[in-house]
Amino acid sequence: MIFDSLPRPFFVLAPMDDVTDTVFRQVVGKCAPPDLYFTEFVNVDGLQSPGREKLLPKLRFSEHERPIIAQLWGKVPANFEKTAREVAEMGFDGIDLNFGCPEKTVIKNGCCIALVDNRGLAGEIIEATRRGAGSLPLSIKTRLGLKTVDYSWHEFLLQFKLNALTIHGRTAKQMSKVPADWNAISHIAGLRTSLSPATKIIGNGDVMNRHHGEELAAKHKLDGIMIGRGLLDDPFAFVDTSPWSTWTKEQKIALYRKHVQLFAATWRHNERKIYTLNKFCKIYVSGFDGAKELREQLMRANSAEQLLQLLDTADSPVAV
Ligand SMILES: Cc1cc2nc3c(=O)[nH]c(=O)nc-3n(C[C@H](O)[C@H](O)[C@H](O)COP(=O)(O)O)c2cc1C
Repeated sequence: MIFDSLPRPFFVLAPMDDVTDTVFRQVVGKCAPPDLYFTEFVNVDGLQSPGREKLLPKLRFSEHERPIIAQLWGKVPANFEKTAREVAEMGFDGIDLNFGCPEKTVIKNGCCIALVDNRGLAGEIIEATRRGAGSLPLSIKTRLGLKTVDYSWHEFLLQFKLNALTIHGRTAKQMSKVPADWNAISHIAGLRTSLSPATKIIGNGDVMNRHHGEELAAKHKLDGIMIGRGLLDDPFAFVDTSPWSTWTKEQKIALYRKHVQLFAATWRHNERKIYTLNKFCKIYVSGFDGAKELREQLMRANSAEQLLQLLDTADSPVAV
């Protein structure tokens, strides 16, 4: 079982929709791999509908991204069961349920963090997923509550003897507007100790690098730390001492070129639109003279080939 074989603390690449696809996970893996990868969240009701083909790319992964957990969300327990069975057959190392997304449309539909107020359905979803998952580990990612901090929610979840529980230290109402509350995460780790000692607790929210994560894990007695946006500032966030601040323009452009090449080789039939690369541009094209102007130029590219040409003229290739 993967969670038992991870170091303590272990570091996890956060699921980020339209960001942490197989391509970016491989880029992060090449720079400084985490101990565990998550896919973007994938809707089970969509997967079990005629729209399935459009969603399947979110579940694509390579053997370089191990161990990897598929993150699911949705409404209908039978679709969770069916999808969990498929995910097990695809070779994933675990299944995570997204009980944390705070988007208005998602909440209106009664999904994710809205389940705080519908524990009957939350329980059915957990049981259905477990039936489909067989021996695969089952984890949940959630927040501190819907509008206010609600520890009864975490007590409820811990009754299911999950393999892991990730806590993003904010309520849904707080979105990302206030700093993550690590004391609240610490309190939930304490609840775990009495209610479900084998469940690993993963803390999440505003961690920028490994050193910061190690400090928080030690202070709050956590098993793991999840990092999301920190990777958009520094793709080496998972190593002790990141070389990123010393990287030259040429090195950064060479890494972006690799990212674009992998994108072009992976998403062959327009499965991902070229503009989805724009959100990565700022990672690589920043911190040197002329970066802003170059970004503006790169973001206007309408094919991977054009983007690669622009990168070639921006600077001659160097090895990374
Ligand atoms: C662009 C973006 C997409 C996200 N998509 C997901 C998702 O698919 N599933 C999920 O559980 N959380 C998602 N999140 C939340 C992150 O996983 C994480 O909980 C949040 O960003 C806080 O961690 P951080 O401060 O390390 O970024 C997303 C966050 C961002 C910024």
